[in-house]
Amino acid sequence: MRQYRIRGQNRIEGELCVSGAKNAVLPILAALCLNESEVVIHNCPRIADTFVSIEILRDIGCKVSFVGNTLTVDASGDLKHNIPDDCVTKMRSSILFMGAMLARNGRVNLALPGGCKLGARAIDMHISGLESMGAIIKAEGNRLYCEAPMLKGEEIEMHTVSVGATENLMIAAAKAKGETVLKNAAQEPEIVDLARFLNGLGADIRGAGTSTIVINGVKRLCPRDSHRIMPDRIVAGTYLVAAAITAGEIKLTGACPRDMLAVISGLKKMGCRVLTTDSTIALQAPGRLLALPRLVTEAHPGFPTDMQAQFVAALSVADGRSTLRETIFEKRFSHAEELRKMGADIVLSDNKQFFTVYGKKTLYGTTVEAHDLRCGAALVLAALAAEGETIVTQAQHVERGYEHIEKDLAALSANIRVESSAASSEQPYLSLVAG
Ligand code: UD1
Repeated sequence: MRQYRIRGQNRIEGELCVSGAKNAVLPILAALCLNESEVVIHNCPRIADTFVSIEILRDIGCKVSFVGNTLTVDASGDLKHNIPDDCVTKMRSSILFMGAMLARNGRVNLALPGGCKLGARAIDMHISGLESMGAIIKAEGNRLYCEAPMLKGEEIEMHTVSVGATENLMIAAAKAKGETVLKNAAQEPEIVDLARFLNGLGADIRGAGTSTIVINGVKRLCPRDSHRIMPDRIVAGTYLVAAAITAGEIKLTGACPRDMLAVISGLKKMGCRVLTTDSTIALQAPGRLLALPRLVTEAHPGFPTDMQAQFVAALSVADGRSTLRETIFEKRFSHAEELRKMGADIVLSDNKQFFTVYGKKTLYGTTVEAHDLRCGAALVLAALAAEGETIVTQAQHVERGYEHIEKDLAALSANIRVESSAASSEQPYLSLVAG
C-alpha cells in the first residue's frame, strides 16, 4: 500500500505549472483508435489512468511510446476488438473504447467499466446512443458484446448531461455515415479539447462547448499536426485550495482560468484574493476562510463535482456554517466521514446529497483513508491545514489523477512524503512507463 505522511500547518507558497488534464487525455487516447497513422500528443499527464489507457492501446495492437509528457501512438495496424478486462474494471473511461472501436473495427467486446465508486454511474445513454446509430449491443453477465457493420448519423437527445456519453457518441459519430446531432450535450472544456483533437485529424465537429454538437462523419482520419492536452482545471483547483486552506499564496502558470470561473468565484467568496491572466492564476488567502452559505455542484459551467470534496475540506476550517449540495453523483460523500476523524463537523442529510459544514478553527492529524480520487485529494488538503501528522492511506487513488502531488506540494513548502509498506509489490503502472 502507498500512503502520504503529512505534517500540517505549513503555509503553501510558491509557483507551479499545471499538468495536462486527466479528463481530456483519457477520451483522446480512446479516440486515437480512429486514426490510421501516427499521432503525437504533448502535455500528457503521467498519471495512473494514462498508463491504463496506454495498456489498452498496446494490448489491442497500437504502438505507443511515452517519453516525458509526450505520447506517440501509431494505430495503423490491425486492432483487436477485445479490450482487456483488468484495465476496463480499473477505469470508467475505458467505456470510451466502445464508441472508438465500433467506429474503427465495427466490433468491440469489453467488461462493464470500473472507476471511483460514486453511485450508480449508469451507461444507458452510451448504449442507447450507439444503438440508435446502428450498433447491436448485447450484455451478457458483466460483459458487453457490440457490433456495428456501419454506424450512421442520428439525432440523439440525452436525458441527462453526461460527459462520458457525449464523448463516446462524438467519437463514434466522427466516422459515421452522415450527420449526428447530439442534444443536451455536456459542455465541459474537455469535450472542446476532444473536438479540437478530432478536428485536427480531419473530423468535422461543430458546437463542442455548447449543448448541441453537430458531427458530420468523415471516411478517414489522419493527423495534420500534433495535439497539446489542455491544462487540468481540477488539479489547478486543488492547488488553489491548498493555498487557501493554509492561509497561503500561490501562482499557477499554464492554467486556463476561463474554464474555472465557478471555482474561482467560490474561492473569492471564501475571502481569497484571486488575480488571473489568460494562463495564470494568483491566489492570496485570508488568515481564515469565510464559510459559503450555499454551494451546489452542477454540470459545466456550474461548480464541478470533482472539486466538491476539496471545498468541503476547506469549509471544514472556514469561519461559520456552510451548506453544499451534490447533484451529479449520489454517493460522493466518503470524504465527509474521513474528515470527521480529523475533527471536522459535517452533517449529511439522509440521502447524503446535502452537506452542512460547521467550520472549526483547526483539524487534527490522524490516519484517514482515500476511498476515491477526489476524496484522497480532499484529505491531503485537510492534512496540510491540520495540527500534527496525518497519514492518508490508499494513495493509489490519488495517483489516478495527480501526476506527483507530493512533489508539487513539497515544492510549495508542504511537509509531505509518499511511503510504501515493505510488503508492497505495488506500483502496477510504473512497469508500463518505458517504451
Ligand atoms: C466525467 C469525469 C468525472 C466527472 C464527471 C462529472 C472523465 C474521465 N470523468 O465522468 O471526473 O466527475 O464527468 O463531471 O471525464 N449518467 C446516466 N446515464 C449515462 C451516463 C451518465 O444516467 O449513460 C449519469 C451518471 O450516473 C451521473 C451523471 O450522468 O449521475 C454524470 O455522469 P457523467 O457526466 O457521465 O460522468 P463521467 O463521464 O463518468
